[in-house]
Amino acid sequence: MSLFPSRLLCLGAVARQHQHRVISRTQQLSILTTTLKRKSGSSLSSTLDCTYGKTGRGSRSLSSSTVWRSSQQQPSSHPLPSPLDLDNSTATTTTTTTLNLARRADVDAVYVCTGANRGLGFEFVRQLLTETHGTVYGLCRDPESAHELVALSDAHPNRMHIVRTDLTVPADIASLPSKLSEMGGHERVDFLINTAGILHGSNHMPERALREVTAEWMETNFKINTVAPLLMTQALAPLMKTKVVRKKKQQQQQQQQQQQRPPSVVANLSARVGSIGDNRLGGWYSYRISKAAQNMATRTMALELARQNTIVIGLHPGTVRTGLSGPFQKGVAEGKLFEPEFSVAQMRKIIEAVEPTHSGHCFAWDGVCIPF
Ligand SMILES: NC(=O)c1ccc[n+]([C@@H]2O[C@H](COP(=O)([O-])OP(=O)(O)OC[C@H]3O[C@@H](n4cnc5c(N)ncnc54)[C@H](OP(=O)(O)O)[C@@H]3O)[C@@H](O)[C@H]2O)c1
Repeated sequence: MSLFPSRLLCLGAVARQHQHRVISRTQQLSILTTTLKRKSGSSLSSTLDCTYGKTGRGSRSLSSSTVWRSSQQQPSSHPLPSPLDLDNSTATTTTTTTLNLARRADVDAVYVCTGANRGLGFEFVRQLLTETHGTVYGLCRDPESAHELVALSDAHPNRMHIVRTDLTVPADIASLPSKLSEMGGHERVDFLINTAGILHGSNHMPERALREVTAEWMETNFKINTVAPLLMTQALAPLMKTKVVRKKKQQQQQQQQQQQRPPSVVANLSARVGSIGDNRLGGWYSYRISKAAQNMATRTMALELARQNTIVIGLHPGTVRTGLSGPFQKGVAEGKLFEPEFSVAQMRKIIEAVEPTHSGHCFAWDGVCIPF
């Protein structure tokens, strides 16, 4: 058997998986053979979709990283799910798709999205208004300057509400359930999309070296990238409970064509650079660490909220043409800088494709799970 470099990496992973056990050489060989057989068909591939290239300020290119692109290499009780079928070409997604089509048509469905005034958040709001019949709550901290969002709201007066929310102010977040009730009489949320995030600010670029780290910038990143999605979910989870319907009952309901409310979904906008396993380039301390912590929040909330049939996932949008990626767009390889329309359409497909077994994982724009 020839061992290519990728195979060697694979052997390393296997060795780690079994390091807690004392095993004989024959057992080792047998485990390796089985594992390699299982892994055949999958390939170690280079992904460039987290590319933040040269900024012209001498920063390192965060342009290439290597991940396993299939369900493997997770040495825990949480094996990575297979890539999601975003084009719905397999039978397993049929139930979910039927339910989600019903949800799109449901005038009572409620969608909440942070960071709604620009970038990916704005695009989520726009697409939810176009592609569904429900009500959309767009959260932003300064509605007066959110001209495009106000225009959208004017175009959909009965289906869209702008809610002033500064995500660094816990009281703003805690008051959301009462605001939903006052503004639209809603006591239900179907999707919570935690989009708002920061990578840089007016006086801050992401750190290139340890000496650039400051407690203050680290805290700011944590407040917006980690704490805000957690508190948003804490505030709205009570409105996101849906009934778990057992398979037999599900079939009966389908036969009787009864409406069944699909699981609610919390989607936290993460980033591939928040993956510890995928970090081969370093830098960007505050952003990376705050997103890695967000991933832990996602997994922990997923475990708790499974009891109320709420799915919690992380999403990596790819590198998208927004203000956040603005300073880094020059170095992005051709074809790897997505428009918000494309990225959000992909992420919406993911949100509609996920099932309870996917909860607690992070998915990239193409439906492939990113290891934490
Ligand atoms: N774009 C990419 O290439 C990329 C790649 C990987 C991951 N992501 C993730 O995707 C998400 C969206 O990114 P984006 O590209 O849309 O970013 P963006 O265009 O920079 O927009 C960021 C949004 O977050 C809001 N925000 C920041 N601080 C806030 C606060 N304290 N309270 C309320 N809102 C606040 C901003 O509102 P203001 O206008 O008031 O500042 C803005 O609406 C982020 O979580 C980001 O980490 C993006």
